[in-house]
Amino acid sequence: MKILVLGGGSIGKRHIKNLLSVMGSPNGIFVVEPNEERRKEIVSLGVLANQVFPTREDALTANVYDGAIVATPTSLHYEDALSLIDHKLALMIEKPLGVDGRFAKQLEEKAKQNNNFVFTAYCFRFDPVANKFSELLKSGLIGKLLYARAEMSTYLPDWHPHEDYRTFYMAKKKLGGGTLLDQSHLYDMALWFFGDIESVFGITKKHSDLEIETDDFGEFIFTMKSNLNVSIHIDLFTRPWREFFQVSGTEGTLTWDIHTRKIIHETIDNKKEVLMEGKDYNQMYVNEVNYFIDQIKTNGAQQGPKFEDGKRVVEIIDAIRLSTEEKRTISF
Ligand SMILES: NC(=O)c1ccc[n+]([C@@H]2O[C@H](COP(=O)([O-])OP(=O)(O)OC[C@H]3O[C@@H](n4cnc5c(N)ncnc54)[C@H](O)[C@@H]3O)[C@@H](O)[C@H]2O)c1
Repeated sequence: MKILVLGGGSIGKRHIKNLLSVMGSPNGIFVVEPNEERRKEIVSLGVLANQVFPTREDALTANVYDGAIVATPTSLHYEDALSLIDHKLALMIEKPLGVDGRFAKQLEEKAKQNNNFVFTAYCFRFDPVANKFSELLKSGLIGKLLYARAEMSTYLPDWHPHEDYRTFYMAKKKLGGGTLLDQSHLYDMALWFFGDIESVFGITKKHSDLEIETDDFGEFIFTMKSNLNVSIHIDLFTRPWREFFQVSGTEGTLTWDIHTRKIIHETIDNKKEVLMEGKDYNQMYVNEVNYFIDQIKTNGAQQGPKFEDGKRVVEIIDAIRLSTEEKRTISF
């Protein structure tokens, strides 16, 4: 099997390392990375030097691939994906699918025509702790679900200590940075845990003194088709970091502390218990590439996230922007 990874930055390198260990040999791993220093780093990870290319065209001219992982800055995802799909590759596209929903339908239609498996890589879908949390919510442990609150509040300059946050793609509008796009994990989780969304009301804006062009604050209320409300907060300036998903039910509260990887159960008579503690942060990414490889082998026959899931998330992103602009609830 031959897999092409586009983008050898932070997440691209993680996928490359995991592919090297899962595939057991560098023979089937190919990379596109325009930055020369990064290309050297990729070779030092164990990728064969003649399988690392500066452009997508070079890579596509040199070989035929079974699948590709798109790990370029978000603003390039659609362009990369639309080009790769014409070469009949299965695709794992880093989250979010794109900077908005504009090309989602076109990509979906091309994928159907060409019979390509394509999904957006929301890594927590493959996290053992998140999966346990999802199961517990459905198990009735906290009774009837009444309300959810989720936050991803982090401090952007701490994300990549090796680089200046002002030059990182997250700081640049043109590259698809900003918290609304990046923390879209939470919108995907809401869909995963509670089913489809009915409407959204929210605001997205630049609020802090961080030296970035992009949004760093968001506050949203999702109303799910089940009538459950999910209140979501995201920002890029909070210290210390706070990341959690918490659900109140008639019989108690269940919290997944995303940052410390713990699930905490609280009963209505104030008993508190840690039900699970995650060990290896990288495991979800290993599970994710294994899922992609299995989908390639079976031509998309495995259970798991599909194209529609990631497409719904970019529709939510568009709706949040519209809600901010028009100060009203947007229905789907
Ligand atoms: N699922 C996750 O946990 C997770 C984590 C981080 C990032 N991401 C997503 O992955 C994407 C990349 O984020 P990152 O943090 O790795 O950014 P990054 O800036 O560290 O890496 C992006 C890389 O793409 C390269 N690149 C630029 N133009 C290219 C092109 N035309 N072809 C090939 N490579 C090109 C850059 O040189 C850089 O090395 C974003 O969409 C982001 O939302 C997902």
